Amino acid sequence: MKTHRLLSLCAALATGAALAGEPADPLVVACVGDSITYGHGASDRGTKSYPAQLQSLLGDGWKVLNFGHNARTALDEGKEWNGQGGMGYRKSPEFEKAKAAKPDVILFMLGTNDSKPVNWDADGGAGVKRDYAGLVGDFLALEPAPAVVVGVSPFVKKDSFSIREKIVGGDLAPWQRAFAAERSLPLVDAYEATKAAAETSYIGDGVHPNDAGYGVIAAAFAAKLRELEPALRKSHAAAWPSSIALPAPKRAAMPLGEALAKRATHREFVSEPLSDQELSDLLWAANGYNRPEERKRTAPTAINRQEVDLYVLRPDGAFLYDAAQNALVRASKDDLRGLTGRPGPNNFALEAPVALVYVVDFERQRMKDRPADSLKYAYVDCGFVGQNVYLHCAATGLSTVFLGSLQPDKIAEALGLPETSKPVFAQTVGRPAP
Ligand SMILES: Cc1cc2nc3c(=O)[nH]c(=O)nc-3n(C[C@H](O)[C@H](O)[C@H](O)COP(=O)(O)O)c2cc1C
Repeated sequence: MKTHRLLSLCAALATGAALAGEPADPLVVACVGDSITYGHGASDRGTKSYPAQLQSLLGDGWKVLNFGHNARTALDEGKEWNGQGGMGYRKSPEFEKAKAAKPDVILFMLGTNDSKPVNWDADGGAGVKRDYAGLVGDFLALEPAPAVVVGVSPFVKKDSFSIREKIVGGDLAPWQRAFAAERSLPLVDAYEATKAAAETSYIGDGVHPNDAGYGVIAAAFAAKLRELEPALRKSHAAAWPSSIALPAPKRAAMPLGEALAKRATHREFVSEPLSDQELSDLLWAANGYNRPEERKRTAPTAINRQEVDLYVLRPDGAFLYDAAQNALVRASKDDLRGLTGRPGPNNFALEAPVALVYVVDFERQRMKDRPADSLKYAYVDCGFVGQNVYLHCAATGLSTVFLGSLQPDKIAEALGLPETSKPVFAQTVGRPAP
């Protein structure tokens, strides 16, 4: 079972305690490159590729992901030695996956395959350098922007597959060093590191490192990441705050009778985000404390077990509503809205800025010995919250639709919920489409 980080986060929030001993949110390291990143020639890619060895060197607190793709080039129109096209890294699925991983830092090591005559010779490497800079620019333009570490292309011990040391060592590597210096990007000189250890670091083709060679590259990147770690952790904390304090909630002014008259389901939204104030007002109406001194809420629950947790899914992540602190506590960096509503391209949950998810904590409900009552009460307790949301939306001009369709297992996994907490309903909220 997953450890439920949110529980300790909430406990700490409720008591105001520091999160002593809490493992830091891992820094995500995306290794972008070709077969040398992929780990071709390693005795076991899973443990001996350079990203895998880097993960063991860095340990907990880091998540190293391998986005290497064999034969890929920085050149957008890159080709294999035999003329087969489509080798540009931008055209690989790994390019999209690397961006989607929301990395804190990208280890960028491309260029070896660009040294092939078919990619280099027509313009003496000008296109390679242009697209190399363009790719780095694409990564730097991500929101939030990752750090990009330039990995100088490794030494070529023996020319193979038409990869040429005279280009890599004689032109590309010096250009990569100058490029990094000019852009003030951190640099790892994998060329020098592998050249110094060339005797023992290569498989027979003379291009791909062996396990020891991958270890050399991993050690070089690990040293640089350790040096960058304080700055990376600082920008990670700014980009992905672990909790967001909401402004004090304001009550909707519309008389109840009028709100009841307007209450309705709407399924057409615009994507404009809700402000923190709007969210605070909505969540308080949904299930906030209306009698804080008694720790009682706007929605009733059977035997006052208060077993319904509200999660807020937004494009910038998923958050638990902490009603006591009037705060959002981060549960995920991912946009999980697509796991609510009916899956597919016309899912309105992706158009609206907010999807609420109703999670029942069956542990807190303490009704294991009465399974029929447990479910009955859980569902009706969610329903009260849902109606509060409907009425608040009616009163404030927002649109909403309560949803029985959601993907509970995937949501539970993504939120890191314990076995005893189950997502049961969702509710889309946003501004109405004109
Ligand atoms: C338990 C429950 C589950 C629902 N599930 C969905 C759903 O999965 N998708 C959807 O579009 N609407 C869903 N709805 C919204 C209903 O379709 C809607 O409330 C109904 O058509 C009546 O419309 P009204 O809310 O405007 O009165 C659900 C409503 C409830 C109460």
